[in-house]
Amino acid sequence: MKAIRLHAFGGPENLTLEAVDTPTPARGEVLIRNRAAGVNPIDWKTCSGGGASAFIGELPFVPGWECAGTVAAVGAGVVDFKPGDEVFGFLRFPEAAGCYAEYVVAPANQIALRPQPLDVVAAAGLGLAGLTAWQALHDKAGLKPGQRVLILAASGGVGHLAVQLAKAAGAYVIGTASHQNQAFLRTLGCDETIDYGSENLALAVRDVDIIIDGVGGAAAVEALSCLNSDGIIVTLPSVTAAEVIAAAEKGGYRALGIRVEPNGSQLEQLAALVADGRLSLTVGAVLPLAQAAQAHQQSASGHQRGKIVLQID
Ligand SMILES: NC(=O)c1ccc[n+]([C@@H]2O[C@H](COP(=O)([O-])OP(=O)(O)OC[C@H]3O[C@@H](n4cnc5c(N)ncnc54)[C@H](OP(=O)(O)O)[C@@H]3O)[C@@H](O)[C@H]2O)c1
Repeated sequence: MKAIRLHAFGGPENLTLEAVDTPTPARGEVLIRNRAAGVNPIDWKTCSGGGASAFIGELPFVPGWECAGTVAAVGAGVVDFKPGDEVFGFLRFPEAAGCYAEYVVAPANQIALRPQPLDVVAAAGLGLAGLTAWQALHDKAGLKPGQRVLILAASGGVGHLAVQLAKAAGAYVIGTASHQNQAFLRTLGCDETIDYGSENLALAVRDVDIIIDGVGGAAAVEALSCLNSDGIIVTLPSVTAAEVIAAAEKGGYRALGIRVEPNGSQLEQLAALVADGRLSLTVGAVLPLAQAAQAHQQSASGHQRGKIVLQID
């Protein structure tokens, strides 16, 4: 099969398309004929030697943690899936999962059936980003109906899903993005939008219960004064998490970092919201697998709307 491989940590130019052995599913695993792979910032961060690079084992590394395709074979003990099922998943993180490839082997409890409204390209972008948004809002922040939620980077891969999940849970949602994404934030359901280029967030927004921070660093620290005295910030970028948490605690706010975890049951909950028309995925860019390097460059720009997806067939 064809796969993208990395033989030495470095920039996108180190990604090469190669012929490799097709994997075999072990007990409890399924073999997926992978038709699309989602691209996330953790992919280029890991390939450059940061991100999850400490967890991926020996190089060469096949990047990618999000997949969507058709079950080709099942290992012993798998009862929930059969060949021909259309599935999507978020696999093995932070260990290597190898989703930038024509076939991928997945633990059966880390995939779900693809909901009808999503085509295979959109489904490939849902797993990691959707579970991050879900786990930040529900598992970390304990979101309740009627709460005020501020989402920093609401137009990004995680943010655009977090806006919709917070609205689906009955929250009042405020989203930040640049001028060119203001209309997009309103189509997602934001009750208020803030243009970070021209508005002062700390003056414009008050009494927030939850901040989901997809930006990190100074922008997250500046946003802390938007919280009410019981408020909590969940900060996503791990590189600045310690700095943001320290600033929050100094100000008397609760603060948590996060490392998203694979979870097939939560994928089913995301799929149910998609099937109900309450959650959709915006694909900002689709590139062929062979252009993984361009996809990493685009992700590293930090200004992608929605998700980047690599199409494999
Ligand atoms: N800890 C975890 O488990 C975990 C999981 C997932 C993601 N993450 C991290 O969380 C961050 C967000 O992930 P993502 O996938 O959503 O990234 P992404 O898709 O690359 O986010 C891009 C978006 O960020 C917006 N943005 C850039 N600067 C901004 C600013 N100063 N204020 C508001 N919005 C801004 C851009 O909007 P404009 O173009 O309008 O500027 C763009 O739409 C990344 O650092 C990622 O590595 C962590």
